[in-house]
Amino acid sequence: MLDDKKPQTSLIHAPRKAPQYIHSIQPPLFRASTIIFPTTAHLFDRHWSDPYDYSYGTHGTPTTFTLGDQLAEIEGGQYCLLAPSGLSAINLVNSTFLSHGDEVWVPDNIYGPNMEHLNNLRQRYGIQVRIYNPIDAESFIPSEKTRLLWLEAAGSITMEFPDLIQLVRKAQAAQVLTALDNTWGAGLAFNAFDFSNEHLSVDITVHALTKYPSGGGDILMGSVITRDKNLYQQLFKIHANQGICVSGDDTAQIIRSLAHMRLRYQQQAENAQKLLEWLQQQPQCIQVLHPAASNSPGHDYWKSICKNGQSAGLVSVIFDPKYDLAAIRRFCDALNLFKLGFSWGGPVSLVMLYDLKQMRILNNTHLQQGLLVRFCVGLEDPEDLIQDIQNALQQLE
Ligand SMILES: Cc1ncc(COP(=O)(O)O)c(C=O)c1O
Repeated sequence: MLDDKKPQTSLIHAPRKAPQYIHSIQPPLFRASTIIFPTTAHLFDRHWSDPYDYSYGTHGTPTTFTLGDQLAEIEGGQYCLLAPSGLSAINLVNSTFLSHGDEVWVPDNIYGPNMEHLNNLRQRYGIQVRIYNPIDAESFIPSEKTRLLWLEAAGSITMEFPDLIQLVRKAQAAQVLTALDNTWGAGLAFNAFDFSNEHLSVDITVHALTKYPSGGGDILMGSVITRDKNLYQQLFKIHANQGICVSGDDTAQIIRSLAHMRLRYQQQAENAQKLLEWLQQQPQCIQVLHPAASNSPGHDYWKSICKNGQSAGLVSVIFDPKYDLAAIRRFCDALNLFKLGFSWGGPVSLVMLYDLKQMRILNNTHLQQGLLVRFCVGLEDPEDLIQDIQNALQQLE
């Protein structure tokens, strides 16, 4: 300990340290690339593969482990790794488990950039990508080479709720790993690690924390959660090797937002339900897609899995094909409260338009022909949101 520091040193080394007994509502924030070892014994005794043996910022800090533990607990999982975006969490799963010659099955409504990543792996490493219809488990036909089955519940554009029970049963029988993109359910709509009377469980869940956990439309992050130590160790190794890590500040923001995530999720679902009921009355919309709508694809699977009736705040509509792209663009441009932008789960309602013909490989007979618009319902008053859509619908004609 230096008694008489020079001014330049004082600029760097502060005299006061927070006492151990100080507690605040939010946990202290650790920002760290370097982690300081108290002694050489700590340096030499640590093991890099022990996630609680702090050694360097990329391997985690108390802040990132706090969020990871909390997410694992909400999800009913055991281990959690954080990644800088939902897509990067998806890619971590693909990079860890797929090798040359393996086969991976994905739903036809898969999150597009996941498919792009898999196509890239296919070209570079000869990985076979096979596509199934999420509401028809018969279309998933695992082979000896099948290593991984991707699931999404529900699909984030066309909202099909998959036949999760049959799909996971089949995967387990064929010893195929199951990874669920659980961003829609947010760990609240159903328990991915125990979702049926037979205690079926997926092996891995992935979340875009960018959506509901962040809740602000301003932070990107992803998570990978499992209950299986062996899978976790494999993921952990690639996570560490690739230097996948997140910022302490962003992590602290998400920890802060988690406290009200359930309330936001429920409110957005309630707002979406009101919108859905109104949209079903509009003659311009020939199909309204939302798992809680009785004629939405996979509605019965949703009912059997989301027993508490939970659903997220996403509603899509397919417009009558007599409305061409120019008309749908006029509609979207005329919206005032719904902002044109990707993503969901924030306070501001968002809208996006899609041409399914350019996005799907299988013949989706459960979907009507026509351009699709997805509404991501925020926290505004639903009556104002309905009014906004009503005004914009006039631009269709
Ligand atoms: C279903 C789903 N999964 C994953 C992602 C990727 O998340 P991120 O935007 O954090 O990369 C998204 C983003 O829109 C998504 O909709």
